[in-house]
Amino acid sequence: MSKKYDFETLVSRKNQGSYKWDQMYKEYPDLPNDIVPFSVADMELQIASEIKEGLKKYIDEAILGYTGTYKEYFEAVISWMKRRHDFDIQKEWIVTSSGVVSALFDSVKAFTEKEDGVIVFTPVYYPFYSAIKLNGRKIIECPLIENEGRYTIDFENFEKLAKEEKNKLLILCSPHNPVGRVWTEEELRKIGEIALENNLKIVSDEIHFDILMEGEKHTVLQTLSEELSEITITCTAPTKTFNLAGIGISNIIIKNEKLRKKFIAEQGKSSAHVFAALGYRACILAYTQSEEWFEQFLQLINKNQKTVNKFFEEKFTELRAPLIQGTYLQWIDFRALGLKGEELKKFMNEKAQIFFSEGYTFGKDGEGFERINLAAPTHILEKGLERLYEAIKKEYPNFCK
Ligand SMILES: Cc1ncc(COP(=O)(O)O)c(C=O)c1O
Repeated sequence: MSKKYDFETLVSRKNQGSYKWDQMYKEYPDLPNDIVPFSVADMELQIASEIKEGLKKYIDEAILGYTGTYKEYFEAVISWMKRRHDFDIQKEWIVTSSGVVSALFDSVKAFTEKEDGVIVFTPVYYPFYSAIKLNGRKIIECPLIENEGRYTIDFENFEKLAKEEKNKLLILCSPHNPVGRVWTEEELRKIGEIALENNLKIVSDEIHFDILMEGEKHTVLQTLSEELSEITITCTAPTKTFNLAGIGISNIIIKNEKLRKKFIAEQGKSSAHVFAALGYRACILAYTQSEEWFEQFLQLINKNQKTVNKFFEEKFTELRAPLIQGTYLQWIDFRALGLKGEELKKFMNEKAQIFFSEGYTFGKDGEGFERINLAAPTHILEKGLERLYEAIKKEYPNFCK
């Protein structure tokens, strides 16, 4: 029998510098100790014991000096891509970055000029907007089409935007945060065709690519054709999959040598050297020894998303938490409550003591939605849902069954 990992024990991150816990306590210092935030995308779960023990051993033996890439690290990354994604890569294509967000910023600077347009399918992960805007480029929104909780790409609009001379780059989120879509091969082919026809480069942020719900299949965009692999920068990392965000390492796959050189030159300009000794080791331990932990984690997310979905179906009218296909983030539709932006946040935080990522931070199409992070012990999630139900029953009884 395989080892059973502990996804039940909660470790408090109060006063530990956790971004989301600190944010919550900064606004509400007197919260009771059992409130756990469901916002920023890291996990309220302990990391794989193989990573924990492996890092301890490494620290016992290693000299933590300036450290770069090495054979074992490349082999681990190459093997994971092949095994999990049928993605054949070569060592030379791997560029290490401290994070995917840094890679988004560097890509925007490397592959576009000031005032150029960068297309994004919205609502989308908020740093996409900052990477474009803070570098003086134009955000070109191509809103996703929503139909009863399922989101699709507006290809007609995308093609129109792609044809505009000033628009040079697409930043794709695949699987998509926050709406939880895993794009089908057909959708990805269409995106690729339009990009190729119109000279767009693509930054494909696939950081969530491992986290797939039952029966779902992720396709790495650049595997679809030789031509696509020449215009695509694929952003990957072990950090979402294995809860290692605080260790700061990501693997950016760039096949085209010219693009790769440009990207690396851009990294150099911000002196973004990666000396992540612990990051490389954690990546190796994750990709070579922790797959069983990850399989069990996927079962937990599958269970948690169904728990949330069922809770909404059984308890509420008009408020919906559709099932997702990928990521560990579920996109909940509270639009029927009629609360705008900060009003919805205030209700959630103050009346329900529940802390989501606010829908409006993902763009204007996110207004009225909340994103819940499912990577927490089920019993913690259930407590949060109960508080939500009690608050809605009290203030908006018409929405309760
Ligand atoms: C789509 C997407 N890209 C990037 C990141 C963060 O990447 P990193 O921590 O490597 O900067 C996240 C984290 O939630 C994400 O959802």
